Parts: sequence; structure tokens; C-alpha cells
Amino acid sequence: MIIGEAPGYDEDRAGEPFVGPAGQLLTKMLAAIKLSREEVYITNVVKCHPPQNRNPHQDEIETCHPYLKAQLDIIRPKLILTLGNFATQTLLQTTEGITNLRGRFFDYHGIKLLPTFHPAALLRNPGWKRSAWHDLQLLQKAYQPTP
Ligand code: URA
Repeated sequence: MIIGEAPGYDEDRAGEPFVGPAGQLLTKMLAAIKLSREEVYITNVVKCHPPQNRNPHQDEIETCHPYLKAQLDIIRPKLILTLGNFATQTLLQTTEGITNLRGRFFDYHGIKLLPTFHPAALLRNPGWKRSAWHDLQLLQKAYQPTP
């Protein structure tokens, strides 16, 4: 299961997560570790598009949290990849930044959770792609699809 921040403009129009430029990069990142979008469940912490792409507010994160928890209970993912600060901090209940949290596994109620950079951040900071590639390879090693 892959968890991002909130729908952007393109996602709001399409009614689907990660279909804009960040989503296209996410699709390529998954392909690099031999995963198709059909093999993963992709969602966001916040379910509505924050106006002007502003950061989600705490009350919006809290309002959407029961929905995200229900998704986690239904999907019962083997692994969780959190993209960026909002998803990582929400699930791990921390204020620590993504730069310190990325690249290692945490336990989320018995599920392995790996934080990495958000693809939109990678589009703005291409120099971070090397670290993201390291993280994706960790994910690939931890993911053993059933034959
Ligand atoms: N960024 C996100 O965090 N989620 C999306 O669905 C699209 C962009």
C-alpha cells in the first residue's frame, strides 16, 4: 500500500490518486522495482484536494484519518510505503522530518512501513532521487510476491 498526501488538481478532476506529474514519476519508480500500479493500492492521507495545493491542515488530516484506517483494515497490506512528510508523520505519529525518517523500516501495528521522499519533492529536487532509489530497493527486497 502506498500512501501520499492529498489529491492534487489532476487527481481531483480524475477522482484517482497520483495521475498528475508526481503520479507519473511514481509509476516509473514502481516499474523500476518491477511493480505495476495494479499490484499496489495507492491512496492519500487527506481525501479532498486542498485549495491552491496548500499543505493539508491538521483538522483535515484528523477528519480523514478514520477513512484511511478503514482502508488499512480492509486492505491489510503486507508493506506500507509512505510518501513524504504528511503520510509518514501521520502514520508514525511523529513530527520528525522525512529526511531523518526515510530509508529504514518502522513497525505500524505489525506492518512494515518504509518512508521515502514524495515524488513531487523528487521532481523539485532531482538530487534526492539517489536516496529514493535506495529506499525502493529496500522495498523490493522486503516484498516477496506469492508465486
Ligand atoms: N500528491 C499526493 O500526495 N497525492 C496525489 O494523489 C497526487 C499528488
